[in-house]
Amino acid sequence: MRKISLYLTIICCLFHSKTSAQSNQESSLALTPPMGWMTWNYFADQITEKDIMEMADAMVSSGMLKAGYNYVLIDDGWQGGRDHKNNIIADPKKFPSGIKALADYVHGKGLKLGIYSDASLLTCAGYTASLHFEEQDAKTFASWGIDYLKYDYCGAPEDVETAKSRYKTMADALRNSGRTIVFGICEWGGRKPWLWAPESGGQLWRTTNDIRDKWKRRSAKEGGEGILDIIDLNAPLAEFAGPGHWNDMDMLVVGLNGKKGPSGDLGGTGCTQAEYQSQMSLWCMLASPLAATNDIRNMSEEVKRILLNPEVILLNQDTLGKQAVRKLNNETWTVFLKPLANGDYALAILNRSNQTQQITYDFGLTGSYQIKDLWQHKVIRTGKNWKGSVNSHETRLFRLIKK
Ligand code: GLA
Repeated sequence: MRKISLYLTIICCLFHSKTSAQSNQESSLALTPPMGWMTWNYFADQITEKDIMEMADAMVSSGMLKAGYNYVLIDDGWQGGRDHKNNIIADPKKFPSGIKALADYVHGKGLKLGIYSDASLLTCAGYTASLHFEEQDAKTFASWGIDYLKYDYCGAPEDVETAKSRYKTMADALRNSGRTIVFGICEWGGRKPWLWAPESGGQLWRTTNDIRDKWKRRSAKEGGEGILDIIDLNAPLAEFAGPGHWNDMDMLVVGLNGKKGPSGDLGGTGCTQAEYQSQMSLWCMLASPLAATNDIRNMSEEVKRILLNPEVILLNQDTLGKQAVRKLNNETWTVFLKPLANGDYALAILNRSNQTQQITYDFGLTGSYQIKDLWQHKVIRTGKNWKGSVNSHETRLFRLIKK
């Protein structure tokens, strides 16, 4: 009897230490929104190891890595089927050296590598996916040195329960893979993943359909989300974001300038610089993961100004991890306020209209704040409100520094 209870105690301890090790591992994942560069909008499925290595080089030389963009994220199109042991393999034409060699290269630059699969038999672009091979694929990804998995949902059943369980199956497989891998859920928001994704093991979850390189949908019939559509869909979801669990507003379109390809259809003809600056401002305010998708080998000064502003990125990476709360929303104005870890606030004032507009906005905070304009890089004055003009579709962004 004593022996049995000793065995039970040992099993119990083993189980306990495993689950607490797992939860320690997970609770330290994605404590701030992941930042990186993703292949999809620029290359679609025509990706090669050469292009990705060039992008990794450019992440370093352009200052992207230094600014915090530390993931290179391979999206759909890398797969070349399965081998005779059913191991998933990369397309040997696109990746002649294999993904492990690419991971080593990327790691050697101080970057991390992400990969992509799907919770059904085929991915959205029709490549081999992971359903029924979750354990095996997770182990393969771990053996290659993968640090992040985006897991899509094309070809899977519509109901919520199947989604919850298919995502959990892959999350468990990643946990058992022996490597710490961030798990990005991508079922496009239809099943309200903010209600169940953390429990299914996700550190981030897409909240909407795919973004296009446009400001907003021009009619209810036009598919594809614009920047403003995604801001409006995410504004009510603030309570679900926090360290280790983020509302993913999809990729940045900054610098694509209407490029043909995934972001260029359904009215994706490009945005103005004010609109791109608004995307960066509000993706940071709403604590979204930041995945740039432009050609970072050839970035204009204007694109660098938008993507690499350290004070704006700091709002996104603030350790308190709060998504900004929408304080005002009407035909002309959308205003967000985000509390920051050191007691400061960030304030974003977006002009939705097609003309320049004037506003006086009272912060609604007790006490006075020094007002720093984060795009103009200057302290304006100390006060309890901001008065000024905002161009059409522009976002003025301020840090309110506690006096
Ligand atoms: C879906 C996703 C996109 C991208 C493509 C790849 O549409 O939402 O982000 O990954 O699949 O096929």
